[in-house]
Amino acid sequence: MNKKISVFGLGYVGLVTGACLAQQGNQVIGVDNNQGKIEKINNGDPCFYEPGLTDLLLNMLKTESFKATTDYVEALVESDISFISVGTPSLKSGEVDLSAVKHTIINIVDALVAHKSQHIIVMRSTVPPGTAKNVILPILKEKLGERLGRDFHYVANPEFLRESSAINDFMDPPETVVGGENASVASELKEIYRFVEAPFIETSIDVAECIKYIDNTWHALKVVFTNEVASICRMLGVDSQEVIDIFCRDKKLNISPAYFRPGFAFGGSCLPKDLRGLLFVAEQLGLRLPILSSIQKSNYYHIDRAYEMVTPPGVRNIALMGIAFKSDTDDVRESPLIRLAERLIGKGYRVTIYDKHVRNSLDKEVNGRVMAEYLGHLVDYISDDFTTTLEQGDVVIIGNNSEEFYEIPNLVTPNQIVVDLVNIGFTGNKANYQGICW
Ligand SMILES: NC(=O)c1ccc[n+]([C@@H]2O[C@H](COP(=O)([O-])OP(=O)(O)OC[C@H]3O[C@@H](n4cnc5c(N)ncnc54)[C@H](O)[C@@H]3O)[C@@H](O)[C@H]2O)c1
Repeated sequence: MNKKISVFGLGYVGLVTGACLAQQGNQVIGVDNNQGKIEKINNGDPCFYEPGLTDLLLNMLKTESFKATTDYVEALVESDISFISVGTPSLKSGEVDLSAVKHTIINIVDALVAHKSQHIIVMRSTVPPGTAKNVILPILKEKLGERLGRDFHYVANPEFLRESSAINDFMDPPETVVGGENASVASELKEIYRFVEAPFIETSIDVAECIKYIDNTWHALKVVFTNEVASICRMLGVDSQEVIDIFCRDKKLNISPAYFRPGFAFGGSCLPKDLRGLLFVAEQLGLRLPILSSIQKSNYYHIDRAYEMVTPPGVRNIALMGIAFKSDTDDVRESPLIRLAERLIGKGYRVTIYDKHVRNSLDKEVNGRVMAEYLGHLVDYISDDFTTTLEQGDVVIIGNNSEEFYEIPNLVTPNQIVVDLVNIGFTGNKANYQGICW
């Protein structure tokens, strides 16, 4: 069923949103606080260049399915659902300027209280994680009281369009993310976006707010990563485009969910070594590559965060479950757990370590000797006795993803704290269970 929709903020996002929703058969009224802009828009001039938008706008004005106004009340009275797409620019400090968002929310709510019995407010502007919880919902709660969540609803629905392909992107986004608490509100939006083929994802407001920032940060990182890598290639006389093309063809490990798992620091025999090797080449070439150069630093900071988590006040005994750099291996080379264990021992904690594969291999002739050299004094701390090690920790650290560790949260006493560095996926009572990344 077609809807009556208002769109607040008629810039790149709002005007495209309004015109496209009108084209889909909805009755749309757009609102902007810039009177001059409103007059132009109502005469078919979008006020900025976006391919296809002028024609689309003219058509929608002609069919009277879209009009623009500065009047909030008129827009609210004529709609059942409001999309907010006002600007959220950076202040000099980097903080996001939410003044337009707050102004819009306050105006909308005042008009709602006076004129509407039901309404849905949809946030399409990019607002920092926590904005709903800390800024918007308090305003809504204060003004709407218990009617919020009953008659009036708020959802976060980030916009993924890109300028220059905005109409196509609006009609064919990578996904639709809707954050809110109410399934029937989500289904209203699903109905509005029925022309979209991409997945419709329902989540919390907090997650929806995060997603947009993580997406754009990832896109920025991709650009910079690619340019740093390409700079090395160029200096070496290697075809960077061919390298990146082949890199992108690996859909198993490179362009895939592989490694996208919140957890502990990376380590092992390859990643740290090869990163160092590439950075050495770059240095020889006189290249300054801040992103690649800070990868290992970031990894160490993550070990610091683990150290802070496993050493709350009053703790003396720590059981470290796993010392190899991942499950189902005895390889301890550059395991970040070694760094963590050495720091704990150095600071005077009583540490016991369980790793049956490592313990067993230490007793084997050739590899055992190499491993022992690598582990140094840690050899004496490593046991293959799961139960005794577990019992000895005030804090029990789940260090890798071994299947035998999945039961640890159910095996400890209420006085023991479990710190999970790898996200084993425990869903039981979480009172004495905490994860480093969730
Ligand atoms: N531009 C993009 O490619 C893009 C893509 C995705 C998301 N976003 C996000 O969407 C939001 C809007 O971006 P944009 O590029 O369309 O911004 P914009 O600056 O082009 O448009 C913002 C509009 O809001 C109007 N406005 C400001 N305060 C208002 C108020 N109190 N009431 C009514 N109208 C008001 C302005 O006059 C302007 O027309 C931002 O949060 C942005 O981060 C932008």
